Amino acid sequence: MTEPAPHASTGPLVVHTPDELRRALADAGRVALVPTMGALHEGHRSLMRVARERADTVVVSVFVNPLQFGPNEDFDRYPRTLDTDTAVCAQEGVDVVLAPSVNTMYPAEQTVTVHAGAMGERLEGASRPGFFTGVLTVVSKLLHLVGPDLAVFGRKDAQQLAVVRRMVADLNMPVEIVGAPTLRDPDGLATSSRNVYLSDAERASALFLSRALEAGRAAASEGPGAVRAAARAVLDGAAGATPPVELDYLALVDPATFADAPADHRGEAVLAVAARVGATRLIDNVSVDL
Ligand code: PAF
Repeated sequence: MTEPAPHASTGPLVVHTPDELRRALADAGRVALVPTMGALHEGHRSLMRVARERADTVVVSVFVNPLQFGPNEDFDRYPRTLDTDTAVCAQEGVDVVLAPSVNTMYPAEQTVTVHAGAMGERLEGASRPGFFTGVLTVVSKLLHLVGPDLAVFGRKDAQQLAVVRRMVADLNMPVEIVGAPTLRDPDGLATSSRNVYLSDAERASALFLSRALEAGRAAASEGPGAVRAAARAVLDGAAGATPPVELDYLALVDPATFADAPADHRGEAVLAVAARVGATRLIDNVSVDL
C-alpha cells in the first residue's frame, strides 16, 4: 500500500500547452522534471519520490511520443490513462502534470532532431532504429519547455539514461540528470508499463530475464567472460520455456558509453538484456561490479 505524500490533498495542476506551463511555473523555485509516457506504475512513483525530495516543484510529463515508436511497434495500443495517471501524481505530491497533445509537441514535421551517435546505434538502437533519435528529440523539447534544474530517469532504461546524460553534456544543457534505481516486483520482474500486456504464463517466462541478470552478477568476481556465460546459460534454458523467451541481445557494457566491456574491464559495468515474450518486448539490466 502506497502512503500518500503530504501534497496529496490539492492534486496537481494539469496543463496541456507551453503557455499554461509557463504560468504554472512562475515562482516555482527549484524544479524537477520526471518525463514519462504515462501508464504510471510503482516504478514511476519511485522516480517521483526522488524528484520530490530534491525540488520545490515537481513536474511529470505524460506524453506518448510517436517519434520513438517504429512502424511495427505498439504506439497505437500503448496504454493511455491520463485520469489514473493524474491520481497517481496527486498521491505522490506532484505539482504539475504536463500532458501535451501530439499536435502541441509536433505542430509541423520535426525536421531538426537530436542523434545519439554511435552509442545510440547498438543494442536498443540496433533493434529499434530511430528510437534514440525520437527519445533525445522529445527529451530535449521537454527540457526546453520546462527548464528544470534536474530531470529524473529510471536506470531500468540504462542505455536511454546514458544517451540522455551524453546529450546534456555534449550540448551543454543546464540540467542535472538523476538516475533512479530500478523497482522490481517481489518475484524480480522489473516494473514496466508493458508488463500489463503479459499473461500469467508470459509473466512466468519473463522472470528468466531477471534470473539471468542475477546469475551474471553472481559471477562478477570471475570477470566479464564468466558474467556473460552465467547469464547466457539461464537464457539458453529460457528458450525452452512455455512460452519461450526469444532473446534479442545480452550485453555487458561500459555504463557511460555502452561499448562492450573488454575482457580486462574493471569497476562498474551494465549487464543488459532484451527479449520478446509472446508479443511483448522486455528489457532489463543490472549493475555489475567487476
Ligand atoms: O522512458 C520513457 O518513458 C520515454 O522514453 C521518455 C523518456 C518519457 C521519452 O518519451
